[in-house]
Amino acid sequence: MQMKDVDHLPATPDFDIWPIFVLPQAVSVENGALAVTWGDGLVSRYHPFFLAENDPAPDTLHPLSREATLPPLDIAADLRVAEAWIETGGAVTVRWSDGRRSSRFHPGWLRGNGWFGAEAPGPKPVLWMARDQPEPPTLDGPSALADDGAFLRWLVALRDYGVSRLENLPNEDGLLMRIVERIGPVRESNFGRMYTLEIKDDPDSNAFTSDALLQHVDMPTRECPHGLQFLFCRDNTTSGGEGIYVDAYRIAEDLRTEEPEHFRALCEIEWSYNNRSKTSSYKACGPVIEQDSAGNISGIRYNTWLRAPLVASLDVQDRAYRSYRAFAARAQDPAYQMVFAYRPGDLLAFDNRRALHGRNGYDAKGGTRFIEGIYADRDDLYSAIRTLERALDQEPAT
Ligand SMILES: [Fe+2]
Repeated sequence: MQMKDVDHLPATPDFDIWPIFVLPQAVSVENGALAVTWGDGLVSRYHPFFLAENDPAPDTLHPLSREATLPPLDIAADLRVAEAWIETGGAVTVRWSDGRRSSRFHPGWLRGNGWFGAEAPGPKPVLWMARDQPEPPTLDGPSALADDGAFLRWLVALRDYGVSRLENLPNEDGLLMRIVERIGPVRESNFGRMYTLEIKDDPDSNAFTSDALLQHVDMPTRECPHGLQFLFCRDNTTSGGEGIYVDAYRIAEDLRTEEPEHFRALCEIEWSYNNRSKTSSYKACGPVIEQDSAGNISGIRYNTWLRAPLVASLDVQDRAYRSYRAFAARAQDPAYQMVFAYRPGDLLAFDNRRALHGRNGYDAKGGTRFIEGIYADRDDLYSAIRTLERALDQEPAT
């Protein structure tokens, strides 16, 4: 049974929705901590410091910002839960050992923030190769812009697949900017707030030629490369120039199992990257494959034409180049590549630190090609998804 939040329940230290799927059945005090036995038999325990600093009362949590106002040292070092009980409606009240006023907690929030032996699973990337995903997940653009639910599905596809597309969009000035700003702030770069993929007489990137581009991430020259990229094709009558997208997380996982020595080298050896510009000089370094503390792949830094010389011993150079070649062999293997034409009205959104992108060369004299690009960051995508889910009152799409 799902019970909705009701007025008499305590506030929570956030603006999220905490549905009550199960009610607390019994509470007890264990060595000064709160123990809750839930209706489904699970038990969760809460440290007194955890409860005190998340107390939603107005003197410990700002009632408007919902941010904590309690300094850590204002919590007594020997604070203990003295007594606890369940109110009608499921809120849990705690009486404290130091005589301060009691604290009340929302049962949905307590359940959602309880420890049950493992972290609750979050969204997992859907890994793909060409046979699984020959084209990006695609929605009709005008429909997605007119309907928050469809817009959310586009964003969730971007998060989970690392690439998603809107199609049939009108050729309209400012449209790309409006769509990106609906998700979050633009992240500018040395190419400006927005850039146009056009052929320049004096190009400061291979992107501004009609040449083929090997698979790559943009901005490996930054401490944290831009998390998202948006490419809006407003016009294209040229031949060639198809987009080539690769799920580099799929490559990394395949290397982990099939070529573990190369996988380790790609995670350990830091390459430097520098841009080649007469008016700027960006430089950053990092491994090709980044993992989080749990060993999940969390980012890719791979770009052949922006790699700086690897100043290292022969042994390290040998290990670095051979592992880089192993990665490149997969990135350039059609089995990993999604290849498709940029059609007028297509908007490609992709995770720049996961989905490698590239293109075939095109005949610049055979027509016109007008593609606009904007960068943003992953955090803004994730925030937009959570905010839309909250507004639409949906369970997180995992
Ligand atoms: Fe690029």
